[in-house]
Amino acid sequence: MSIFALEPLNRGQLQSYLELANQFLDDRGHVITPKHFQKALTHRSVGLLFFEPSTRTRVSFELAAKRLGATTIRLEAQGSSITKGESVLDTCLNLQAMGMDAFVVRDRQTQTPQVLMAHLDVPIINAGNGTGEHPSQGLLDALTVCRHFSSGGPLQCDLSGRTIAIMGDIRHSRVARSDVHVFEKLGARVLLAGPSALLPNEDGWGDAQHVHTRQEALAEADVVIVLRIQKERLSDVEVDPDTYIEHWQLHQEHLSLMLPHAMVMHPGPVIRGVELDDAVTDGPRSLIMQQVRCGVAVRQALLHACLSD
Ligand code: CP
Repeated sequence: MSIFALEPLNRGQLQSYLELANQFLDDRGHVITPKHFQKALTHRSVGLLFFEPSTRTRVSFELAAKRLGATTIRLEAQGSSITKGESVLDTCLNLQAMGMDAFVVRDRQTQTPQVLMAHLDVPIINAGNGTGEHPSQGLLDALTVCRHFSSGGPLQCDLSGRTIAIMGDIRHSRVARSDVHVFEKLGARVLLAGPSALLPNEDGWGDAQHVHTRQEALAEADVVIVLRIQKERLSDVEVDPDTYIEHWQLHQEHLSLMLPHAMVMHPGPVIRGVELDDAVTDGPRSLIMQQVRCGVAVRQALLHACLSD
């Protein structure tokens, strides 16, 4: 089994990943690995192939694999024979021949995970494919929200009646795309907020509604997910940083425009002083570090689902 995207998954499948991931968190939201999972992936080897930069995703997949007893091999373009012209597919075919049991892959080409899935016999987990999807991030964002609104009780995955606003550079964000799919399937309403040039201009974004001011996004949301500007994918759009900050940065004063219980999330990396100020990033309404903890739990769940007997 591979994990390519959240779009094709139904609510029951999403819920079972979230429930499994929730078993890897204690009551305080800290990562645990119950004893019966600790050797679940012994003798399995996971290839972590990151051909785009990553901190959270790469490290948390590596930790997750090791917490389940697997061996990990890391490969980046620099230092591998990809720099001599070998394709990602040929690289993976060679690693599969060496005995790798699964690959976690991040690449700037949207089609990479599907090409690998078509030619390899082992599970592929998409860790971000260009502007496509980032399924483990979508799941960890959903787990963060579901746990927050479960108030310490059993995990509540029904988000009916909740509104999630995603604010910033939506058009170039694979995180936003995965978030739209998971949150809508769990019953939430999704608002996409940002300057027109950074809102989607194509299909594939579910029923998400566009809003064109920060105030509109903040007024109705139970959770505001703030995104950075994806500079590395901005070839089609010019964004003036000062204008962006004036109209779209979330700083402490804006918290009073939000519902009293509403929380702030960000998938990272946070570019402090651009999309968020320090007081919001580090303040009591931020769930950002909880997202990071949920990331390890979700990745343990995905590796276990893909690789256990
Ligand atoms: N959120 C996320 O994907 O972060 P990294 O790029 O650091 O993995």
